[in-house]
Amino acid sequence: MRARAPLLGAVLGIGLTSTMLMAANPPASRPLSFQRDVLPILQTNCAVCHQNLGPMGGLTLEPDEAYENLVDMPSMEIEMQRVEPGDPERSYLIRKVEGTHAGVGGKGLTMPIGGVLAPADVQTLRRWVSEGAKNN
Ligand code: HEC
Repeated sequence: MRARAPLLGAVLGIGLTSTMLMAANPPASRPLSFQRDVLPILQTNCAVCHQNLGPMGGLTLEPDEAYENLVDMPSMEIEMQRVEPGDPERSYLIRKVEGTHAGVGGKGLTMPIGGVLAPADVQTLRRWVSEGAKNN
């Protein structure tokens, strides 16, 4: 019995740690929200270049314009929608942040230029597109 107590503590500790790590991401059980989950990622990592006045790549990702500039909007670098609701593979936005754009004839660099998007944020974008890219 005495030998088991530390083991139990370790198991609980690992369990707690992984729960805490996961708490930063939206739980898999609820649908993602554009306002709550997607916009903050674009604000933090993208809007510095994709802003309203002279947006880089001709793309504004500021809160008031991001949705209409992404969803069902053709890319200017390739014949593909920036976001094709329900289809991350055919969404240029996802290819640009995953770095798979060149493989389908896309141009330019992986986004964000000069930075790195956390894998959890890439997953959030991908899942939001898979769930139909809702404006919610
Ligand atoms: C340091 C500036 C900079 C940052 C930060 C940045 N971008 Fe870009 N983005 C550009 C430039 C410049 C281009 C055009 C050249 C290229 O594609 O490499 C571009 C192009 C794009 C395109 C292609 C537009 C089209 O019409 O197809 C997408 C999509 C895009 N960016 C998304 C993002 C996303 C999402 C983020 C944040 C995760 C981001 N960018 C962060 C500068 C930036």
